[in-house]
Amino acid sequence: MRHRPTVEFEDMQLLLRSGLGRLNEARFLLLQIIDAAAARAWIGEAPVSRADAAVPAPAVALQLAFTAAGLRALGMDEEVLRGFSEEFLGGMTGDDNRSRRLGDVDQSAPERWEWGGKPEQVPHLLLMLYARPGGLADWQRSVQDARFEQGFHLLRELPTSDLGGDEPFSFRDGISQPKIDWQGRQSTDPHRRDRYSNWLAPGEVVLGYANEYGELTDRPLLAETEATRGLPTTEEDGARDLGRNGSYLVLRQLHQDVSGFWRYLDAQAGGNAERREGLAAAMVGRHRDGRPLVRTGAETIPGVPPGHRLNRFTFAGDAAGHACPFGAHIRRTNPRTGDFPPDVDGWWSRMVRRLGFGQRRPGDDLIASTRFHRLLRRGRPFGPPIAPEAALSSDPPDAERGLQFICLVANISRQFEFVQNAWCMNSKFNVAQHEGDPLLGNRCPLAGGEPTDQFRQPDPAGPARTLHGLPQFVTVTGGAYFFLPGLRALQYLSKLPDGQGERMR
Ligand code: HEM
Repeated sequence: MRHRPTVEFEDMQLLLRSGLGRLNEARFLLLQIIDAAAARAWIGEAPVSRADAAVPAPAVALQLAFTAAGLRALGMDEEVLRGFSEEFLGGMTGDDNRSRRLGDVDQSAPERWEWGGKPEQVPHLLLMLYARPGGLADWQRSVQDARFEQGFHLLRELPTSDLGGDEPFSFRDGISQPKIDWQGRQSTDPHRRDRYSNWLAPGEVVLGYANEYGELTDRPLLAETEATRGLPTTEEDGARDLGRNGSYLVLRQLHQDVSGFWRYLDAQAGGNAERREGLAAAMVGRHRDGRPLVRTGAETIPGVPPGHRLNRFTFAGDAAGHACPFGAHIRRTNPRTGDFPPDVDGWWSRMVRRLGFGQRRPGDDLIASTRFHRLLRRGRPFGPPIAPEAALSSDPPDAERGLQFICLVANISRQFEFVQNAWCMNSKFNVAQHEGDPLLGNRCPLAGGEPTDQFRQPDPAGPARTLHGLPQFVTVTGGAYFFLPGLRALQYLSKLPDGQGERMR
C-alpha cells in the first residue's frame, strides 16, 4: 500500500521535522489558563515555528501543545474533544491502571509528582522555547508579553541543559531515530517489509497521514462551518480535520540518580573501572560514546545512511544475547529484529497475539513488527554535567539531574505506552525474567512477590551472570499527554467561542 502524501510542512510545528539540535538552550513552561479570551488572543498571534522553516535552522523557536484540560479551558466543546484518543483524554495519570501499566507506582507514583499528578497541578499548555546559546532569556521575555501575563498562570518552568549530546549518566543520546518517509517511498505492505527498516510512515508521528498499517489514525473530524473553514480538509471524505499536521506529545520528567547509578555499578565491579564501564554499557546496550555492543556496519538497513555506523545494526546476529543482553535499554525500547519466545502465557501472550507478534505462518510480519512501536524522541536533559568519576566521589556535587523525556507519536497507546509497559516495565521480556529495564525499572515486586530487580548478562563462557537487588535509578517526577496542533488548528483554537462548540461529523 504505497501512499504518496502531500506533506504540508507549512502547517506543522517544527519539532515534527527537527530536534532543533542547534538551538541548545531550551526551557519548557507549563501554563494554566486563567483568562480564556486573553489566552486565545495570545495563541492566535504567537510566533510558533513551522516545519517549513527547518532549513536553515532559525535562531529561536517556539512550540505549543495542549492537554485535554487545556483544550477544555480554551472553550472546546466536549463533543469535539471526544474525537481525540481515549488515552489523551484520560491523561497520563487518568486512572490507577494506566499508572500501574506505566510503572508509575511507589517512588514514581503520581501523588508524589512535582506537577501533573494532582488535578490542580495538571498543566493546560506546554510552551517550548528554544534559542541559540545566550539567546533564551531575551526570547522568553519577548514571548511573555502583557497579554500572556493576562491569559496564563505559570505553573512551572522546566529547565534543560546542554550536555553536549549526552544524557546525565554520561551516555551519548539521540543516536537512533526513525527516518520519516515524507516522500512516501516505502511500502507499508507487511509482505514487502520482510526485514528491519528504519523508515517510518509519516502517519506514525503526524495525524492525518497514512500510518504503518496504511491507514489514517482516528482524530477529530468536524463538519464544515464558518468556524472550521480554515482547517485542513481530510483525504477521507472532505470533512475538516482538526488533527491533521498535529501530533501527540508525551512529556515525562525523569529524575536520574547519577551517583546512585555509578556507585552501584562500581560496587558490582569491585572498584574496577573497566568492569564498571562494561556493566554500564551492558545496561544501555551501547558504550558511553554511543558505539553499540553488537557488531555494526555489516548490515545495510533501509533508512540508515551508510555513514551512520552507530545505527547500522540489528540484533539478528546476537540471538543468545552474548554481545548485548536482552534486557539492555536499547534492545528493549527498539528490539529491531526482536522475536518473542513461543511459550509465554497470560496477558503478555495475549498482548503479543493481539498486536500481531508470535504468529509463525510464512509471510507473517515477524521481523518488521517493531515498526508499529517507534517513537520520535525530542527530549532534553536537565541539571549540570557530572562525570562518572565525580559522581563516585565521596562528596559528589549535589544537584537535580535527569531527562525531560519527550516523544512524538500518532498513537499514544500503541507507541509510547506499549514501549513503556510491554518492553520497559515488563519483567518477562524476551528470555529475560525478573527484570525491568535496567535504567527505567521501578524494581517493585509483582503482585505474587516475584522480583523485578535483576539484570542478566548471558555469557558465552558459562552460566549467565545475574545481578540482584538493582536500585531504582530513574524516578518519574512529572508528566502529561499533550496535543501538538498544526498551525491552522492553532488558529482554530485561538477563535474558539466561549463554551460553545462545533458540530462533529
Ligand atoms: C532517564 C531516562 C532515560 C535514559 C537515561 C535513556 C537513555 C538512553 C540512551 C543512552 C540511549 C541510546 C542512545 C540512542 O540510541 O539515542 C537511549 C535510546 C532509546 N531510548 Fe532511552 N533513556 C531514558 C528513557 C527512555 C524512555 C522513558 C523511553 C520510552 C519509553 C526511551 C526510549 C528509547 C528509545 C526508543 C531509544 C532508541 C533505541 C533504538 O532505536 O536503538 N528512553 N536511551
